[in-house]
Amino acid sequence: MVDGSFGAQGGDLRNLPPGKYIDLSTCVNRYGPSPAAIKALGSIAAEDLRIHPYGVEMELVDAYSKKLHVDASELIAGRGTTEFIWSLSRVVPHCDVAIPLPSYTDFLRAFPGRGLFFSSTKDRVIPNIGQIVSAISTTKFVVIANPNNPCGTYIEPDEIAEACRRFPDHMLVVDESYIDFLPSHESKRSLIGEDIDNILVLQSPSKFYGIAGARTGVAWTRNKEMRDLLFTMQNPWPLSLVDVKVAVAALRDQGWASSIRDKAVADGRWLEHALEGLNVEHARVHYRFFFTEKAESLRADLLKSGIVVRVFGNAHGVRPGGIRISAPRCEEKTLVEDQLRLMKLAH
Ligand SMILES: Cc1ncc(COP(=O)(O)O)c(C=O)c1O
Repeated sequence: MVDGSFGAQGGDLRNLPPGKYIDLSTCVNRYGPSPAAIKALGSIAAEDLRIHPYGVEMELVDAYSKKLHVDASELIAGRGTTEFIWSLSRVVPHCDVAIPLPSYTDFLRAFPGRGLFFSSTKDRVIPNIGQIVSAISTTKFVVIANPNNPCGTYIEPDEIAEACRRFPDHMLVVDESYIDFLPSHESKRSLIGEDIDNILVLQSPSKFYGIAGARTGVAWTRNKEMRDLLFTMQNPWPLSLVDVKVAVAALRDQGWASSIRDKAVADGRWLEHALEGLNVEHARVHYRFFFTEKAESLRADLLKSGIVVRVFGNAHGVRPGGIRISAPRCEEKTLVEDQLRLMKLAH
């Protein structure tokens, strides 16, 4: 455990003995980075690094504006969705914030003690629209991820938009870090572009494009006050040239994106099948989650065979405990399937 009761975050293997692992603890796309991103990295010229990256963040804004069909003036570039969450934690009074549980580690670290259940039964709660309505009706500032991490649950954007319209004086932050993993036939996936003033949506190419090491992301809102606030929190040269070149190339590579999306969605379904019998939460993304009282011991068993998964507990609002597993790559499936079978026997 690296960070108190939250445990090591997905992909942080620093506290494990040296060795070769299949790391299914992170939700970063195992097929990434996109070949275009790698090529862009290789083509950065030495002289591009000599001077400060004046305005390079606008290249990212431009790429997202085209991808999301929104005006560039409504977007702010930052170092991942993380930058925005932590900026907000510095300016928003924490007593005005609610984070419906279960939720993502970093929200709960940025707003300590603000994770709340909004449910009479605090056991085996999964994200739902009723929770969001309760949260936004009583709290000025609500933070969610859709799709949810750790559960993978996806709430229809129309339902979320309706909740925002009912409480226009309260602000909803929606982290859409995993939105690009949703099946491609779902035409309406994101809340970005929705005609609502009290919503702030965050996206980044970190997970889907497999470039979490390059720190880029965007915030979108039609709320000018919120945009101005986020702009004032930024430093000069908010993004590095290297990060932006990699991210923009990845975002433009839509051929890769659609073929990988289909693969990742199919891998997610494969995983759901491999975990049959464990009451896995239904999800459309490439990771799956299930509640279990034996989370720690199951994780330890899988680790002995070189497979790393992510355990959640009380600190995340996961009661009595749970495991999140990302789908393995095609060529890893046989090995992983055998170990999951043994895990089910031990359950
Ligand atoms: C829900 C969620 N939001 C944000 C992040 C971090 O994203 P970024 O790399 O865009 O800062 C993660 C990473 O695990 C995540 O799961």
